[in-house]
Amino acid sequence: MDGKFQDNDISKVVEADRAHVWHHLTQHKPFETGEPRVIVEGKGMNVWDQNGTEYLDAVSGGVWTVNVGYGRESIANAVRDQLIKLNYFAGSGGTVPGAMFAEKLISKMPGMTRVYYCNSGSEANEKAFKMIRQIAHKRYGGAKHKILYRERDYHGTTIGALSAGGQEQRNAQYGPFAPGFVAVPHCLEYRAQWDDADYGRRAADAIEEVILREGPETIGGLCLEPITAGGGVIVPPEGYWPRVQEICRKYDILLHIDEVVCGIGRTGKWFGYQHYGIEPDFVTMAKGLASGYAAIACCVTTEAVFEMFKDDTDDPMNYFRDISTFGGCTAGPAAALENLRIIEDEGLLENCQAMGARLMDNLRALQEKHAVIGEVRGMGLFCGAELVADRETRQPVDETLAQKVVAECGAERVIIGVTNRSIPGFNNTLTFSPALIARPQDIDRITEAVDVALTRVFG
Ligand SMILES: Cc1ncc(COP(=O)(O)O)c(C=O)c1O
Repeated sequence: MDGKFQDNDISKVVEADRAHVWHHLTQHKPFETGEPRVIVEGKGMNVWDQNGTEYLDAVSGGVWTVNVGYGRESIANAVRDQLIKLNYFAGSGGTVPGAMFAEKLISKMPGMTRVYYCNSGSEANEKAFKMIRQIAHKRYGGAKHKILYRERDYHGTTIGALSAGGQEQRNAQYGPFAPGFVAVPHCLEYRAQWDDADYGRRAADAIEEVILREGPETIGGLCLEPITAGGGVIVPPEGYWPRVQEICRKYDILLHIDEVVCGIGRTGKWFGYQHYGIEPDFVTMAKGLASGYAAIACCVTTEAVFEMFKDDTDDPMNYFRDISTFGGCTAGPAAALENLRIIEDEGLLENCQAMGARLMDNLRALQEKHAVIGEVRGMGLFCGAELVADRETRQPVDETLAQKVVAECGAERVIIGVTNRSIPGFNNTLTFSPALIARPQDIDRITEAVDVALTRVFG
């Protein structure tokens, strides 16, 4: 760590934080006697806290965001140069980085053509919901307005996004929610809901059952994470996605893929859906889009969707009447453009595939050693290990034990994650999402820490 840190009076910072900052997803009572953690600096895969303690960050900033790692001067410089030239203009006009990044992004997304800028994953998802609703009103007399979402998926924190939220504990006490959002079953085979050898297809058939129950003429969209993140790192079983695509086509339902976590390299391809050959109508993204160097999110659509918002010029309402003030900040696309260049030039998709395979291998080796690991799941540098009290019954471990494992990894100076306030009784999956720059020794250090932590907690 450099001298900057020592020059700060860090105790004042910690006091200010304790007195005035309301942290996300945090019970603050312990801070009345203890200190909140303040992250002071980051470089590559590492961060330093207020005590100067160095940690290897295996969760890319806590919520799978810092895909290219910390301390990227070229991104900072790109943002600085852009801010001096033009920091902002509302999205009704164009900007140079907005246009250039949209072109670059679309070059990675065959079949997609239009980029709508905003500034959080929740907001990007709301845009897609609004587009689906507007299409329903314009073309189907409002009937085809329902939006399907899946149990265990999460699409954001606003009341609209929570209305499409499949995680009970994220939603509890925040209702009532917006009407017109309908749940379909999750597809986690380890927690099977059907006894069927062709499980992927069976889980997708369950979507069709909901559509038929609700009436296909009422369903406008289906919103899914390509790989469910906070709901337990769920990789859909084989056969799931082709059937999902088929169902959407059969009932004229727009397919919205939420790539807020999986997008921009996290799974070893530009986007998670690209592993499955599916053709979405909407793709939303945020987090890794600019690796957290600026707040940016995008709702990307096809030309067919875009066309529906301009094909009737006699109708003064026939365009997308949405506004995102900070969608006009130029720092976002400037940072995203440089972020994407880094991923390309440094071969980070390939590295993600190689290091992801190593992480999975290491986790599977730990599974051999520790009976508490019931299942290891993941793709690229996006992995989870579900902890169970009993392998036979698959009874989940008490979540306080899963949290202890995270704390013990912290004692080993490795920050890992765990599904948190998500599904009651199932906050038992350890999560791993290191930056795409991870080296073999980083991956090994992560799993060595997990090994030590599991031994300490479970013997
Ligand atoms: C899959 C998914 N979609 C959407 C969101 C919401 O993104 P944001 O917190 O930027 O609003 C998240 C956040 O964790 C997410 O995991």
